[in-house]
Amino acid sequence: MCKVSVIMTSYNKPNYVGRSIESVLNQSFEDFELIIMDDNSNVETLCRIVSYLGDERVKLFRSNVKTIEERASVNRYAAQINKALEIAKGEYISYITDDNVYMENRLETMVNYLDDHPKSNICYSASQVLKFSEKGMLVSHYIRRAKKVEWKAPCAVDHCSVMHRASILSIVKKRWGSYWDVDPAFYVIGDARFFYRLNYFWPFYPIDQVLDVNYVTEISFHTQLESKEKSDFVKLLPKQRSCKELRDALTKLKGV
Ligand code: TYD
Ligand code: MG
Repeated sequence: MCKVSVIMTSYNKPNYVGRSIESVLNQSFEDFELIIMDDNSNVETLCRIVSYLGDERVKLFRSNVKTIEERASVNRYAAQINKALEIAKGEYISYITDDNVYMENRLETMVNYLDDHPKSNICYSASQVLKFSEKGMLVSHYIRRAKKVEWKAPCAVDHCSVMHRASILSIVKKRWGSYWDVDPAFYVIGDARFFYRLNYFWPFYPIDQVLDVNYVTEISFHTQLESKEKSDFVKLLPKQRSCKELRDALTKLKGV
């Protein structure tokens, strides 16, 4: 057992993944496991990750996905997170991607919040968002605030700003047959889809402090999507479902 399982998805970000891992290993709160779900990255990325395996809290799992057809046929990060959730030992679950960075007190602050609020199942924090262009220039930056008890988390909150109790997962799986939805129609908004499932039952409680930095880099999936020239991978994806649809469904369901 450990207090927190931090789940990191990783795919081909050799220049960023080390910074993300270090931001977890440097946390003021130390009782965690870091489960790195690498989706068969290139050797350069793998070497970066392997250099942190000396810390016994770090656990690396690697998929054997090979073709882009396989990558586009299911939401890969959702599938990888689902595998991690099956083996996670923590009382609390926290997510990070291979390009985002936790502030040093992120785990401590969120663990204290959930420990102090036994009736709250999910908390979220403010986040600093930094967006870079395809050429690597900073094009926008803003703070995503966390001010209210959130019944419509899809596209209002990023999964790197969330911690939830592991105990709620069985309820999600019982209702939908899986934790995260691997439907590739939600590739662009996989976390929003998961949050719909969470908000179906529970609200997200706010901690209005910036506890992570969300980098949208020159190689991020969202940058690829916005690029005029669509990559082969993007071309293979089915028509994407929308935030609006999820948020409208929650409005109907919860009257919010
Ligand atoms: P990322 O490129 O960071 O997208 P965003 O624009 O949302 O920031 O990708 C998000 C996560 O998805 C990242 O941690 C890696 C993971 N991922 C896989 O695990 N497998 C894949 O095939 C792809 C494309 C992404
Ligand atoms: Mg990213």
